[in-house]
Amino acid sequence: MADTWPTAITEIKPNAVRVRGYDIAELMGRVTFGQAVYLVLRGELPSDAIGRLMDAILVSSIDHGVTPPSVQSARQVASTGATVSASVAAGIMSVNQFHGGAITNCALQLGQIIERAADDGDLLLAASAFLEELKAQGKRMSGFGHRVHSNDPRTSRLFELAVEAGVSGKHMAAAQAVTEVFAQSGKTLPMNVDGAIAAVTADMGFAPEIMNGLFMIARTPGLLAHVAEEQQRMRPMRRIDPKAHSYDGPSARSL
Ligand SMILES: CC(C)(COP(=O)(O)OP(=O)(O)OC[C@H]1O[C@@H](n2cnc3c(N)ncnc32)[C@H](O)[C@@H]1OP(=O)(O)O)[C@@H](O)C(=O)NCCC(=O)NCCS
Repeated sequence: MADTWPTAITEIKPNAVRVRGYDIAELMGRVTFGQAVYLVLRGELPSDAIGRLMDAILVSSIDHGVTPPSVQSARQVASTGATVSASVAAGIMSVNQFHGGAITNCALQLGQIIERAADDGDLLLAASAFLEELKAQGKRMSGFGHRVHSNDPRTSRLFELAVEAGVSGKHMAAAQAVTEVFAQSGKTLPMNVDGAIAAVTADMGFAPEIMNGLFMIARTPGLLAHVAEEQQRMRPMRRIDPKAHSYDGPSARSL
């Protein structure tokens, strides 16, 4: 053992793969992708309800059309004739503080609001004071505001599913307090999907440091679809106007 270094994630032996102790062949066909993501990151399988919530979180961010900076980057790189891996990686590299990567920061900021409210328990007052301070520093509250939506359709659905799964804690309450303070200030700064994922996953017990990774896991299929479409449907090195796009996929349909 002296010359080995430890890992507790997956055990590999000839003809055997065990993820967190579970035989991968046994997991296959029995657990959903969301449950497996939870298992690999947290070390235990989630309950069915939490597994469904994990799946919903991953579905919520699977794609958002051609407008996000990550898709613009991935398509721009794909249009040069780059490989799929380079093009998708360019998209992932655009997941940062202001796009997709607001989750970690939002969870940390919600934590600061909760800490501030610890004495008198008044989240609204704590949120209001925190936002005032941010504004004075010229900083933004991560997970709030959106270039397209004034009422992000993913936010309320995620909160609804979280409550159904028995998740409803201080971070979700703090995020709702922030929403209320912004609404009272007369600015349209709704909680966006990053903010909702931050609040919900913080109350599920995820460490803030890995939360942005959840967005990357969720968005990768969307990035791959955009890269494939760019390569198959568009002319190489075209001038990509971020606004001049139109949708010609299936019209609205229901499950
Ligand atoms: C997403 C975002 C870039 C969209 O911005 P936008 O709609 O183009 O808005 P603007 O950058 O033009 O800002 C408009 C005003 O709202 C303020 N504002 C926007 N988002 C804010 C936030 N999250 N917190 C505090 N103030 C915010 C700006 O400071 C600006 O104020 P001013 O008019 O007094 O100068 C922006 O809301 C933001 O930075 N949000 C935080 C990061 C985030 O959650 N990203 C994930 C997006 S899914």
